[in-house]
Amino acid sequence: MTKFRRIDPEISRRTFVNYSLGVAAGVSALSFITIVGSARPVSRQTPDKLPPAEGDILVYAEGTNTGKPVDIGTLEPNPTRAYPQRKTKSGETILKKGEQDSNLVLISKFPEGQLKAPTNLQAAPQGIVVYGAVCQHLGCQVNWKNQDQTYLCPCHSGNYDPKAGCKVIGGPPPRPLPQLPVRVEGTQLVVTGTYLIPPYGVSEEEYEQYKQLAEEATKA
Ligand code: FES
Repeated sequence: MTKFRRIDPEISRRTFVNYSLGVAAGVSALSFITIVGSARPVSRQTPDKLPPAEGDILVYAEGTNTGKPVDIGTLEPNPTRAYPQRKTKSGETILKKGEQDSNLVLISKFPEGQLKAPTNLQAAPQGIVVYGAVCQHLGCQVNWKNQDQTYLCPCHSGNYDPKAGCKVIGGPPPRPLPQLPVRVEGTQLVVTGTYLIPPYGVSEEEYEQYKQLAEEATKA
């Protein structure tokens, strides 16, 4: 069984702000920028921490094929764990794990017709649906619960229904796991935009900034 991890909410929030600082600094061509009293050199911003973004390819996060593109022929309801990976314009390949694995995603494939609202079906081709793996309550990684084909968080029993937009069906999470829109290209999955709702550690107020950051990431 995959071990769960918990992300410190303060670290997550701080990291998000620091990313924002890095993008702003890049745009303004300043070496340093100061917001809410903190300063951070541009050189410390790393692209592997940026949000999932349009054009990223999903690659296996574990197993013998770690780092290789996920083959849609291997998918089933029991989710495959993956990270977004980006090829930059300069040809560099970047595995975008995020901060403390915050970009880890779960990919489930259900028989066509089983996915229902509020799943964004246009973003879930061939019954393949992708969600952030980090619980919206306090940041543990969720697991598969085979009995009822749902995702279960081991920390406080947060329960999500991946066939219905990962809405919360039990426990304390305040909102669904965020769906990541994808399309099929050959046998691979390509991200078509960042999360459709804020992921763990990003508030509703910060979500616009988060999306802008993902947009900036597509220019790398
Ligand atoms: S961290 Fe998932 S239910 Fe609490």
